[in-house]
Amino acid sequence: MRTPVIAGNWKMNTDAASARDLVAGIGQAMAELNGVEVGVAPPFPYLEMVGRELGNSGIFLAGQDMHWETGGAFTGDVSSAMLLDVGCTHVILGHSERRHGWGETPEQVGKKVVAAKEAGLKPIVCVGETLEERQGDRTKDVLLHQAEAAFAGFSESDLAGLIIAYEPVWAIGTGVVATTAQAGEAHQILRAWLAERFSNSFAESVRIQYGGSVKPDNAAELMAVDGVDGALVGGASLKVEPFVGILRGATSS
Ligand code: PGA
Repeated sequence: MRTPVIAGNWKMNTDAASARDLVAGIGQAMAELNGVEVGVAPPFPYLEMVGRELGNSGIFLAGQDMHWETGGAFTGDVSSAMLLDVGCTHVILGHSERRHGWGETPEQVGKKVVAAKEAGLKPIVCVGETLEERQGDRTKDVLLHQAEAAFAGFSESDLAGLIIAYEPVWAIGTGVVATTAQAGEAHQILRAWLAERFSNSFAESVRIQYGGSVKPDNAAELMAVDGVDGALVGGASLKVEPFVGILRGATSS
């Protein structure tokens, strides 16, 4: 049985005061939620403060990205050690806003996964196809290329604790959510690849989140799809009520 994992990706949103309120609200709700792992990924400048506020709530702290190098002349970047220093246990890698907004390649994402694992950070690796790729019947090829580049060179023991987020690019921030059939199929493609590349038992242990316009009113249905093990949530993670609604949806499925 895989425990669902729900992470709020705040992107470049919130300010210090609302971040504090948000964490307090989620923390309160955690008391009545069982069987779901919860994390938040605030913007870099708020990580340390949010980490302090999280205290021992059990909610994990994640960076939204990191460089694969350990240090040096990389203006604007942060390293794995910096994320660890401020209390992160997880890091989102390969989000489509990095891949498509900043031209990050599957190979660069792969280097980041290596660096995160070496440092002891748990990566949440995002993969997903654009609308054009889906319409061109290339979804499977794109997912497998991204997965191969991200996980090439690893053994299954290196990847213990891995979380993958299937995020169709056309569903992110658009209000258009994948159907349960589309989500189920993509998760199945990824899990079958993990089984073939590593082993059945490893494939069964990896949690694959769905991301893209997850809201309280579609969360339970998505979480009930076979192979969907939680969600990476953008817009709906910025306020206590919708985010907690999604957490409840994950525990009821
Ligand atoms: P969204 O974003 O929930 O706002 O669609 C999801 C994501 O980018 O992880």
